[in-house]
Amino acid sequence: MPISEGDPIHSNDYSTVADVIERRRTWKVLADPISPRVLPDELCDRLDPLVLDAIVQSGWAPFHYSRNHEGVAVPWRFHIVNSVTCRKLAGKLPDWFQDINPNNKLPAMLSACGALVLVYWLPQFDEETAKQKQVQINEEHLAAASCAVQNLLLLLTAAGLGTYWSSGGFFRTAEMSEKLGIDPGEKLLAAVFVDYLPEEAAEGVERIGGKHRESRSPHSKWISKVDALND
Ligand SMILES: Cc1cc2nc3c(=O)[nH]c(=O)nc-3n(C[C@H](O)[C@H](O)[C@H](O)COP(=O)(O)O)c2cc1C
Repeated sequence: MPISEGDPIHSNDYSTVADVIERRRTWKVLADPISPRVLPDELCDRLDPLVLDAIVQSGWAPFHYSRNHEGVAVPWRFHIVNSVTCRKLAGKLPDWFQDINPNNKLPAMLSACGALVLVYWLPQFDEETAKQKQVQINEEHLAAASCAVQNLLLLLTAAGLGTYWSSGGFFRTAEMSEKLGIDPGEKLLAAVFVDYLPEEAAEGVERIGGKHRESRSPHSKWISKVDALND
């Protein structure tokens, strides 16, 4: 049946959410670690609390099982690294990880971002030895944490900020967790780089889009109806 004018699909809420989902896109923003991007204090004073609020709201993601780690039910943890600490980290990475490839983009991204939000999930069962039900519980903890990450990307997009979900590279290592004081039981899911000035072209700042942005297949290739049962 065709969608008629009075249907909820035409409501403001629906179209606002759909628009934000489509507008969210990957922008990797890079600056030279030798002359990192300078962000005005007033900008950070205004946007740091906004990022914090977006994280708080992201916590409304669904979750199926109480992870109940240290009395906390949700299976995700967020750690915020502000721009000042990001610039310090950009300088430290080559000392800490001497095998770092000169083309590694982490130092350049840490030199450009307004904030870095590290999102971890908490596996409950050892991934090597987990039984079937335990594997499912682990998977659903990861799925729930992924919902929280997407919530964050959407809220930051709606707020006019740029985002990039990175797998994290060196941030995934136990060594890095130790240096940042992060519990070794937390497994990195996303290193979200937040761009505080997505509209501003600045000298020495480069932007690269997501490599798969244009390669989404038509929806007819990934949606099907199940209307016949084999029995
Ligand atoms: C779980 C996950 C991990 C990702 N890790 C990386 C990454 O390490 N490097 C990268 O270039 N893009 C990474 N991306 C971003 C994708 O490249 C990007 O989403 C894709 O190209 C589609 O572009 P769009 O986000 O603009 O739609 C990641 C995305 C997801 C969901």
